[in-house]
Amino acid sequence: PTANIAVVGLAVMGSNLARNLASREGNTVAVYNRTTQKTDDLIAAHPEAEFVKAATMQELADSLQKPRTAIIMVKAGRPTDAVIDELVSVFEPGDIIVDGGNALFTDTIRREAAVRETGIHFVGCGISGGEEGALNGPSLMPGGTAESYETLGPILERIAAVAEGEPCVTHVGTDGAGHFVKMVHNGIEYADMQLIAEAYDLIRRGTGKSPAEIADIFDAWNGGELESYLIEITAEVLRQVDAETGTPLVDVILDAAGAKGTGAWTVQTALDLGVPVSGIAEAVFARSLSSRLAQREAATDLPGPSDAWTVADPEAFVEDVRKALFASKIIAYSQGFDEIVAAAEEHGWEIQKGEVARIWRAGCIIRARFLNDITSAYAENPDLPALLLAPYFRDALGQTQEAWRRVVVAAAQAGIPAPAFSSSLSYYDGLRADRLPAALVQGQRDFFGAHTYRRVDKDGTFHTQWSGDRTEVEAVDTH
Ligand code: 6PG
Repeated sequence: PTANIAVVGLAVMGSNLARNLASREGNTVAVYNRTTQKTDDLIAAHPEAEFVKAATMQELADSLQKPRTAIIMVKAGRPTDAVIDELVSVFEPGDIIVDGGNALFTDTIRREAAVRETGIHFVGCGISGGEEGALNGPSLMPGGTAESYETLGPILERIAAVAEGEPCVTHVGTDGAGHFVKMVHNGIEYADMQLIAEAYDLIRRGTGKSPAEIADIFDAWNGGELESYLIEITAEVLRQVDAETGTPLVDVILDAAGAKGTGAWTVQTALDLGVPVSGIAEAVFARSLSSRLAQREAATDLPGPSDAWTVADPEAFVEDVRKALFASKIIAYSQGFDEIVAAAEEHGWEIQKGEVARIWRAGCIIRARFLNDITSAYAENPDLPALLLAPYFRDALGQTQEAWRRVVVAAAQAGIPAPAFSSSLSYYDGLRADRLPAALVQGQRDFFGAHTYRRVDKDGTFHTQWSGDRTEVEAVDTH
């Protein structure tokens, strides 16, 4: 056997990952695709790469040195299960099967448990960075056993993106931890994209600037604390002119955003864990709303604000929007890390938050200068009760919150939707409130369902006899 690593599934992501692997010293990459033509095409197109063609799964297994290691790059769901079964039938105990797709982490937990029975390791590995990242250096989030990482780690470390000399990969945690963290990455990606979109919309409608002018603003922002891949590509998208009509491309793209599910999974999981990821949820819902075209069409004549909106000082407004974007972005990340902490506790994962931030600094879609600040925040204090409470972020929120409020007020008055900006601000105010009206909700619950409440001044659980003489009794808490 001559190969030390295999890639199964040679669509764009798989091919690029195989080429990335093959470009590193010491790797010989076995490649397999269900349709052999794709394998032949890849090998023919890249004579520079040391590929070993596998026409069958058995050939693939025979071509690999032990422990055999294969990375699956096929569609999440059933196709993944089918390939795992085939690999299990030709692999031996100690071999390693890696799923590099965007699998739901609970599927990964199930698959890991099933594959473990055979003595084979199963590693769910989040891969971020799109096609380009797969080819030149992605951010990698492997789960699975620590033992499998001893073999897999060095291979992944050589293909990962590099941030300040360090590869953007770490053993995230056992079984589904890697895919879980990748899922939250995508949730944050959704929030970040929606926040940027809201910023664009407010500036355009508030100041009348053209997409190309707004692209210049984003370029300028990219020189500061907002510096990120998503801001950078936003400027490029805004600058693009449609060849057919000569208008900005953004004006001819149908305003109905698609989604493949990872954002929704992040929110569904957070609901189960009881973690408020409101910024991410609003981003997912904003895409859903945008895609309900028939309903939107029927609603266009609903009344809006009577006064036309004009921004008195465009430059000041743009700066306010920049600050609102930064503040809301801090909230999205803080909420995402809260979800990671809660899931780690639930699933017994020892996830190092600082390591997660570290491996997101390059390669992935949410890569940003800001990730350095998150990495330092957790390095300074790994037990931060919330990311936004780290000194750097606390200061940043202090410096932006007034502008943030002005932007949310302006959006509401102008009738411009800014769901992610405004829900993030409400979250911030909710978190810092001395008292919340949750006390009233508890009273209501106790009234109609005897759900009981606790008191601020003594221990125990209480119920007011609402339908009787309204005296309070100590209750056994069953809820
Ligand atoms: C990444 C991306 C990648 C993919 C998203 C797109 O990290 O490289 O997140 O995984 O582009 O899943 O998701 P939607 O199609 O749902 O926007």
